Amino acid sequence: MKTIIAKADNENDIDVLNKAAEIIRSGGLVAFPTETVYGLGGDGLDPAAAKKIYAAKGRPSDNPLILHISHISQLRPLVREIPVSAEKLIKEFWPGPLTLIFKKADIVPYETTGGLDTVAVRFPENRIAQRFITLCGRPIAAPSANSSGRPSPTRASHVEFDLSGKIDMIIDGGHCEFGLESTIVDVSEDKPCLLRPGSVTVEMLEEVLGPIDIDKAVTAKPEAGERPKAPGMKYTHYSPAAKVIIVRGNEENMIKRINELISHTDKSLKTGVIASEETKDRYIADEVLVTGSRENTAQIASNLFKMLRKCDHHNIDVVFAEGLSENELGMAIMNRLKKAAGYEIYDV
Ligand code: TXA
Ligand code: MG
Repeated sequence: MKTIIAKADNENDIDVLNKAAEIIRSGGLVAFPTETVYGLGGDGLDPAAAKKIYAAKGRPSDNPLILHISHISQLRPLVREIPVSAEKLIKEFWPGPLTLIFKKADIVPYETTGGLDTVAVRFPENRIAQRFITLCGRPIAAPSANSSGRPSPTRASHVEFDLSGKIDMIIDGGHCEFGLESTIVDVSEDKPCLLRPGSVTVEMLEEVLGPIDIDKAVTAKPEAGERPKAPGMKYTHYSPAAKVIIVRGNEENMIKRINELISHTDKSLKTGVIASEETKDRYIADEVLVTGSRENTAQIASNLFKMLRKCDHHNIDVVFAEGLSENELGMAIMNRLKKAAGYEIYDV
């Protein structure tokens, strides 16, 4: 299959978006930008489209997809009920980088929900995404548009690298503002529970809801056989081919330990460090990749996946990543880094 790649500078690139919507309506797959990461979209109510999505990504079919909407009126038909907690979150954070899990209505196929009786729904803020979904005239099922296990794509070129030849079209809308996947909150049970941290932070959620539960898989390695509430959290994820090791603690200790670890690394291996503006000149690694300033965690979040992908393009064998404290956006960044590192962390 030849993948069409078309630039859309804004939501008024209507020829491109019409073409994309036509592909969706005839059962095809289109990757599109959102403010978090690129999504791989298909008709959200068509079991055949869900199967195609799993096949293109090489994703296990028990890992459910998120349904994307572009108007609040599209939510009601997809769910059995909208609890008060959800109403509050929707009022505050939609459209935006927040996905909510509801009890599903019958029209949502089990192929889309990976066999679950719940459904994930998100209303993205990105204007190209909104216009595209509106033109499709139906909810769009979309996981992140990467091959299963690879870091999520934050540029159209990342999608092209992973999925070219396997999907019908890529809408190139530039880089994604937030760069980490949406926050996921389960509102299908009595107490709201955070399943995946993102740019809507726990602090922001608790300001609206009061104390919420946090699924264990958010911060800790799942035990063998344990099933996290978001099935996707159990798979190895976000990982470059390089071995990733996190070092966290006081800045000077961190730099010292990373340099020690580099000097003890087999000389035949190419080493890298995922560092910050403040520390980038302090390392003896073969390559230093800068995500941003430690003062600006939004910038670090936005560049993290690009840097993980760079490790592969630059054939880095071992990469040491500076850890952050796990509050606010640091929780989401560390969640992704820990999964990339298979939870290998040195505290210094
Ligand atoms: O920012 C995002 O959320 C991006 C963009 C494209 O919207 N999408 C995304 O999708 O990250 P995906 O499929 O890569 O991650 C969705 C996560 C998976 O971990 C999945 O297991 C979980 O959401 N999920 C989906 N439906 C669920 C459900 N009914 N119950 C629990 N977890 C669910
Ligand atoms: Mg994903």
